[in-house]
Amino acid sequence: MRDLFDKIYKDKGPLGKWAAQAEGYFVFPKLEGPISNRMKFRGKEVITWSINDYLGLADHPEVRKIDAEAAKEYGSAYPMGARMMSGHTELHEQLQNELAAFVNKEAAYLLNFGYQGMVSTVDALVAKDDIIVYDMDAHACIIDGVRLHMGKRFTYKHNDIDSIEKNLQRATKLAEQTGGGILVISEGVFGMRGEQGKLKEITDLKEKYNFRLFVDDAHGFGTLGATGAGAGEEQGVQDKIDVYFATFAKSMASTGAFIAADQEIIDYLKYNLRSQMFAKSLQMQLVVGALKRLDMLRSMPELREKLWENVNALQGGLRKRGFDIGTTQSCVTPVYLKGSIPEAMALVKDLRENHGVFCSIVVYPVIPKGLILLRMIPTATHTLKDVEETLDAFSVIRERLENGLYKKLSAGVKAAMETE
Ligand SMILES: Cc1ncc(COP(=O)(O)O)c(C=O)c1O
Repeated sequence: MRDLFDKIYKDKGPLGKWAAQAEGYFVFPKLEGPISNRMKFRGKEVITWSINDYLGLADHPEVRKIDAEAAKEYGSAYPMGARMMSGHTELHEQLQNELAAFVNKEAAYLLNFGYQGMVSTVDALVAKDDIIVYDMDAHACIIDGVRLHMGKRFTYKHNDIDSIEKNLQRATKLAEQTGGGILVISEGVFGMRGEQGKLKEITDLKEKYNFRLFVDDAHGFGTLGATGAGAGEEQGVQDKIDVYFATFAKSMASTGAFIAADQEIIDYLKYNLRSQMFAKSLQMQLVVGALKRLDMLRSMPELREKLWENVNALQGGLRKRGFDIGTTQSCVTPVYLKGSIPEAMALVKDLRENHGVFCSIVVYPVIPKGLILLRMIPTATHTLKDVEETLDAFSVIRERLENGLYKKLSAGVKAAMETE
């Protein structure tokens, strides 16, 4: 018999094995200073394109003021206990009511964290005889929710309506045997590539197939739709989404999340979401902070307008310079380049050290081998000057990549990786 830790000593996992080359720089980097368009990385100012503070609320003076006042009044303990036992308050209820009204649903329920909330919602919505049909590119929290499901599940090709329909046919056949129902799960916006989930086309399929739709709109909430109510509003199908989810971790620049649906569904979920029933209630300072943020989201459309001015300038500028930004339909701005992992590392180092541009880097196995994905998140705090500087920097790094400079610079790294 082996010691449980043997495997850990031998294999650090798909990401952990790069720790020696990557930690502190490419992963677990420390960005310092107030959250804004420019922060400090290793002592130097960088334009930050990697923070989901879409509306620029994180360091907004009104938000900081309310956060500080709420912390002073309630501390970080209040209320103690899970919602069901002793952690329920008027303000939790008020926030739920305001969120439900904002996303045009009958009711909403707060979640301590988006991730656990998603896992539990998937878990609570299905029984053993039900079938889940979900997108292949789904976020980890959806996949973990599906992992808890004791019955059948089918994945469909990312945003591919033919594949969704094929899987709905399979699921329908199976459900007729098991006597169960079908849950389809999509994201409102896919956070890596920026495409919107095909919610309109999916909901059109409701005429042919009997299923319920659950949408994770983490990136759409606050950024899309006429009022900022998200991808469902943007595509005119909010009323056809059966269960809507959004986190406070992006546009709301905080912690926490919520689900919204018909009253009867929320009443059921409230009594069946294990991660909420058996965990401490969302802290009051976060509840008070979320009420303020929601108020700003509703009453300050100029924040969303500024965000989109920056998105359009960045995405338009990249396209004009011939960059491949894929098929984004949201603020998420991917730039695809061709190169190896060591080249990607040298390129990102150049971007950060010599051009003061900080963005996330995504490589194989998250995307196909030989591709480098630089992922940028524009926010309302960015300026058009930030955009111009970044576009110029991207033109330089592309030329250096094509000239083979990063291949040369990364020869040592490549050798070290090959001996891994
Ligand atoms: C699509 C998606 N769903 C869920 C989550 C999890 O939300 P939270 O950070 O509130 O746990 C995230 C990340 O924040 C996300 O990107």
